[in-house]
Amino acid sequence: MVRLTVNGTVHNVEVDPETPLLWVLREQVGLTGTKYGCGIAQCGACTVHIDGQATRSCSLPVAGLPANAKITTIEGLAKKNGELHPVQKAWLELDVPQCGYCQTGMIMATVALLDQNPKATDDDIDSAITNICRCGTYNRVRAGIKLAAQATPDKAPAKTPAKNRA
Ligand code: FES
Ligand code: FES
Repeated sequence: MVRLTVNGTVHNVEVDPETPLLWVLREQVGLTGTKYGCGIAQCGACTVHIDGQATRSCSLPVAGLPANAKITTIEGLAKKNGELHPVQKAWLELDVPQCGYCQTGMIMATVALLDQNPKATDDDIDSAITNICRCGTYNRVRAGIKLAAQATPDKAPAKTPAKNRA
């Protein structure tokens, strides 16, 4: 029995602990938004978040998850009221996907990048978004990241306001 917290819900699943997280998410938990591409941690189609870090789930046995890990999949990005995440909104506004197969991974990698670095430069994007798109949507992905960045709050600690002067 493996206990997983996915998108805020706890799941107890009967599975071989060596099973990659991707297949547990798709087949035991029933969340099929996360895709299988290469199976060897190269393409990024299977990207999910583990405790906020973008992670390629095809190559991570569930036994290797940190204790009490919080897993987020594409199905968990929107708010409970259905409002889409700013990255999803940017993707829709710019029609980023072509066939769409890689886009779950692109979006999950982008959300993790902007959460950690809302002012990501082109170099930062090149370093962080190494996902592969067979349709060649790279230019629109970059534009989507920049559009989403405009709507992503800077999580850096707020500066202490200056005291009023007499
Ligand atoms: S399917 Fe996981 S990186 Fe390609
Ligand atoms: S949109 Fe088709 S593989 Fe990326």
